[in-house]
Amino acid sequence: MQRITLIQPDDWHLHLRDGANMASVVSATTRCFARAIVMPNLKPPITTVAEALDYRKRICAALAPECHFNPLMTLYLTDNTSATEIAQIKDNEYIVAVKYYPAGATTHSENGVTDLQKVWSVLETMQTYDIPLLIHGEVTTANVDIFDREKIFIEQVLAPLLENFPDLRVVLEHITTQEAVDYIIGKNNKLAATITVHHLLMNRNEIFRGGIRPHHYCLPVLKREKHRQALLRAATSGNPKFFLGTDSAPHAQFSKETACGCAGMYSAPAALELYAEAFEQNQALDKLEGFASFYGADFYRLPRNTKKVTLEKRTWKMPTYFEFGKQKVIPLRAGAKIYWQQVQN
Ligand code: DOR
Ligand code: ZN
Repeated sequence: MQRITLIQPDDWHLHLRDGANMASVVSATTRCFARAIVMPNLKPPITTVAEALDYRKRICAALAPECHFNPLMTLYLTDNTSATEIAQIKDNEYIVAVKYYPAGATTHSENGVTDLQKVWSVLETMQTYDIPLLIHGEVTTANVDIFDREKIFIEQVLAPLLENFPDLRVVLEHITTQEAVDYIIGKNNKLAATITVHHLLMNRNEIFRGGIRPHHYCLPVLKREKHRQALLRAATSGNPKFFLGTDSAPHAQFSKETACGCAGMYSAPAALELYAEAFEQNQALDKLEGFASFYGADFYRLPRNTKKVTLEKRTWKMPTYFEFGKQKVIPLRAGAKIYWQQVQN
């Protein structure tokens, strides 16, 4: 039996939702991740320190009694965010970053930033206090092809941003293209990127294999095989600028299986196991621990975890659905095989 043991990983990009929905999904993450960076795109979004701390309390209240999961919170940047609000994060151990959604780029991003000029003083404050900016890196211009949105964002928004704020620490979230990989490698270590497991395992054919597959629709959308290969090379390279962020994003079944379905894949129930599968495909299981358990913590200047988790090479079947409040959520690989399984240490 093949086994791998690694220091417990963290998920540096996660959507937990709120209320009963959050309570239904949080254990899928806490079963293996010690910490997670929790996205603020609730409705309404989490825009203040007080809201983030309240949201964190609700998450902690939903944890099993013996669970030591540490949710790390983020604030949602809007055109109206004040520098004073953001300055308060600097001394807060539970709020670690600010999330920038270009308005209209993705799920619940309608309150996002319409023009970076409007948040210039906020960005200056973040640079001064060394607060990381987490970016959904896609332009929203209607005439830009959806498959080019990340590449154009890098050229038109990210590059000028980094020129203006050379000391700002930035994570380009859920990168999907060769261009993003090359750009990250070419910059200094103030710029890093998260990579999801779905972008490592699937290319854009999976949206249309045998029919339209709403559960394979996410943003940024899956890309061509050559981009998947570039992501796999980056994730398995041992370069600490690339680390794990699942972007696990549960939606109720009915809001995915509809004429205009929401973006997001619910990967948490087998996230680490699926990363292991991707790394194994590239004969790079020895690189999984750095990517999953070390580099993100190092970037955020947090201590590495000390407990361990073990995965065994053993085939099991993903359930066809999970409870999601009063609804159902369909996980990635629903009803299909998963080749690794976490076992108790
Ligand atoms: O696919 C996605 N789903 N991409 C995002 O950026 C947001 C997320 C969500 O919140 O559902
Ligand atoms: Zn996300």
